[in-house]
Amino acid sequence: MRTVSTVPFTDQKPGTSGLRKQVKTFQKPGYLENFVQSIFDSLPELSGGTLVIGGDGRFFNDKAIQTILSMAAANGVKKALVGQSGLLSTPAASCVIRKYGADGGFVLSASHNPGGPNGDFGIKYNGKNGGPVVESVTEKIFARSKVIESYKITDNDDVNLEKAGLDRIDSMQIEIFNSVTDYANMMEGLFDFDAIRRMFASGFEICFDAMHAITGPYAKEIFVKRLGTSAGSLMNAVPLPDFGGGHPDPGPTYAKELFAKMFSDKAPNFGACSDGDGDRNIVLGKNTYVSPSDSLAIITANAHLAKGYKKGIAGVARSMPTSRAADRVAEKLGIECFETPTGWKFFGNLLDAGRITICGEESAGAGSDHVREKDGLWAILMWLNIIAVSGKSVEDILKDHWQEFGRNYYARHDYESVDKIKAEKIMRTVEQQLAELPGKSFHGETILKADSFAYTDPIDGSVSKNQGMRIDFESGSRFVLRLSGTGTVGATLRVYLEKYVPPTGDLAQDTHKTLADLDLIANEIAKIKSTLERESPSVIS
Ligand code: G1P
Ligand code: ZN
Repeated sequence: MRTVSTVPFTDQKPGTSGLRKQVKTFQKPGYLENFVQSIFDSLPELSGGTLVIGGDGRFFNDKAIQTILSMAAANGVKKALVGQSGLLSTPAASCVIRKYGADGGFVLSASHNPGGPNGDFGIKYNGKNGGPVVESVTEKIFARSKVIESYKITDNDDVNLEKAGLDRIDSMQIEIFNSVTDYANMMEGLFDFDAIRRMFASGFEICFDAMHAITGPYAKEIFVKRLGTSAGSLMNAVPLPDFGGGHPDPGPTYAKELFAKMFSDKAPNFGACSDGDGDRNIVLGKNTYVSPSDSLAIITANAHLAKGYKKGIAGVARSMPTSRAADRVAEKLGIECFETPTGWKFFGNLLDAGRITICGEESAGAGSDHVREKDGLWAILMWLNIIAVSGKSVEDILKDHWQEFGRNYYARHDYESVDKIKAEKIMRTVEQQLAELPGKSFHGETILKADSFAYTDPIDGSVSKNQGMRIDFESGSRFVLRLSGTGTVGATLRVYLEKYVPPTGDLAQDTHKTLADLDLIANEIAKIKSTLERESPSVIS
């Protein structure tokens, strides 16, 4: 064991989801080590404890795991559970932490960001409950990283991660375990695999795009081996360190082939994709796109059709910018509905306290109390279960939902890699107008309320301020503005537009046309395009 002197880095503040930087930053001598040591220093209970370690297989995953193992041994960890080949999807990591009563886990991923030597890398620490640690802990880790003077590491040969079995570094026991089995078993316990298998056997076709990311091996085990669909139903199912050169971002931009197929004459009945670390999902039907906000609402309304949720749902939570479609379902079901800041860590306390069963975000994330992370394959299996039991197509499920609850037309406009100072100026421009906006009218819409979102956690009372600007109109429409906390280059401004149309209204409008007025209003108030000197967003989803 060696103690190595080091100098602090000033930029190790965890964002929306852990510390995410370019690979080149993580490769700087001491960069990864400083952050990992800051975690061990902030969580003394890890000495003598059990840790889960795994990642999405991106470039630097294997190297980082060897370093973390050597540092874990030097910091007195008793046992390390490592996914075979260093692979673990984010939800599987959460599943395993909980199942084996580990004290926490290192989840290595930069989610849907590109990989490879010129791409991104990330590291996230999850606690005993299997979820991302709360803000007070990430703040402690950040504070430590600013004053750190040394880290501890053992000099050992690389551990062979390829073979399942036992190993050790000094007195730390290491178990390399199959990355897929525990997770697949859990899914089989939650969903009616017999009904889905029967549906597949009767000719129901699916197409799943794993985007050369972590879900390939999971999809093979679950969809092909256990549910009996053909291997040809899977696309890009082999994880690659650079994701085959693409971004593992589930959506029309990067899952082009899947989207083209689903919007063609040869479309199978169901399409889906997931992201780099397997926590996101997008669901498609024949010529049908399901927006993640609608998906959350539909899952909330229909979860009782799946065997693991037969007893009903305690409550639902959504991140603040997510459309309010789920709120209407909660109202009808008579269950609690929570609006939390962006990021899965804000759902943890509500899930632990049993106040919610289902939660989700507009950014292609949905999940439940089965783990403490969002879970891509879980959402996809939930949809398949709902389809198998209801006998309805994706398109009919969506239309029937709007018919019952009305439709929340929704879009997110992202202005990526913009100048940080300009992005902050836009936020300030809105902030300065908050008090005077209510009552003002723009393009036929009158503002009801305008605020900077602050959240008080109902369980531990902690307060998170400055979580985005909310501008609500009397009509029930709104727009939201916030700065991304996951980008690695400059700043990303996100503008979320939402317009509600009741069941009696026109439910078949073009989303972007319907939201055009709100886009104009957002620009008038926030001066987005003129400040950024950009004509249009980088991405519209
Ligand atoms: C983005 C999403 C957010 C999600 C996070 C991690 O964060 O918007 O919903 O929880 O990625 O996957 P942002 O970049 O907006 O801070
Ligand atoms: Zn992800």
